[in-house]
Order: sequence, then C-alpha cells, then structure tokens
Amino acid sequence: MLVLHILSFGFVLGVTAIADKDAFAWLRGKKTTLEKKTLLTYHALIWLGLLALIWLGLLALIVSGAYLFYPMRLFLLTNLWFDVKLLFVGILVVNAILIGRLMNLALTKPFAALTGHEKLSLMVSGAVSVFSWFAAATIAIWMF
Ligand code: HEM
Repeated sequence: MLVLHILSFGFVLGVTAIADKDAFAWLRGKKTTLEKKTLLTYHALIWLGLLALIWLGLLALIVSGAYLFYPMRLFLLTNLWFDVKLLFVGILVVNAILIGRLMNLALTKPFAALTGHEKLSLMVSGAVSVFSWFAAATIAIWMF
C-alpha cells in the first residue's frame, strides 16, 4: 500500500506539472484563454462521468493513506507532525474546490484582463497549493 501511496503522489505531481505549464502560458499572455476540455480533465471534480485527474490522484493518496494509517492509528494520532500533515491534506482538498471555481476565469478572459482581486485570488490559491503539497510531502518523508 505504501507503494500505491507513493505512486499516487508521483501521479499527482506529474499531472500538476503539466497543468501548471498551461496555466503559466496563460499567465504570461502566451495563450489568450485555456481550452475547456483540457482544464476540466485536470481540475473538474467530475468530467465525463469520471473523476478528473488531480482529484483521482488526491483521492488515491487519501484512500491508500487511510489503509496505512489504520493499523498505526493509536501511535499516529498522538503524533503532532502527523496531525499537521493531515491539516495540510485538508487545506489541499478545500483549495482544490476553490481552484475548480477559479479556473473558469482562464476559459473566458486573458490573464491581463482580470481585476486585481481575481489576479490575487489565483496567486494566493496557487501559492497555498504549492506550499501545502511541499509541506505534506516533507513531513511524510521526514517522519518515517
Ligand atoms: C497530500 C497528501 C499526501 C502526501 C503528499 C503524502 C505523502 C507521503 C509519503 C511521500 C510517504 C512516504 C514516506 C516514507 O516512506 O519515507 C507517506 C507515508 C504515509 N502516509 Fe501519506 N501522504 C499524503 C496523504 C496521506 C493521508 C491523507 C494519510 C492518512 C489518512 C496518510 C498516511 C500516511 C502513513 C500512515 C504513512 C506511513 C506509512 C509507513 O511508513 O508505513 N498520507 N505519505
């Protein structure tokens, strides 16, 4: 199960890197808007009746993590660092829901045409996402 947990992490990292490449092209004005089909494949909760790629990876991480967690639950729940890791996983889930809403901006307008508030929301959401992935993975690697 640890192998599945780590593979899911690699999968999410890979998909996110590809999705971010598109997002940066839009941010720098290289693309006026992003294609709906591509964006939904990465970020929508359900797309064509299936879980979109990033949600699929996040769900696989949580399910495989829960399997690893169960036999060690008494030890892990008293471990502050594990609780902090779970807090970051919670932040990632909430942020993924927000990204699912914010992505609509990239379908309709060039980045330069967004209001200051819209630009700030995208930047904050991106920064929270990068930081939380990094923090959850660092705590996991450092703890075990
Ligand atoms: C953003 C989500 C997550 C990331 C990036 C992540 C990352 C990792 C990594 C890289 C390891 C391997 C550490 C090592 O062997 O050196 C690990 C182990 C582990 N993870 Fe996660 N994890 C995530 C979510 C979760 C969740 C939601 C749970 C529990 C519900 C969980 C429970 C565990 C447990 C119990 C281990 C230790 C397994 C062992 O050493 O036997 N993880 N995690």
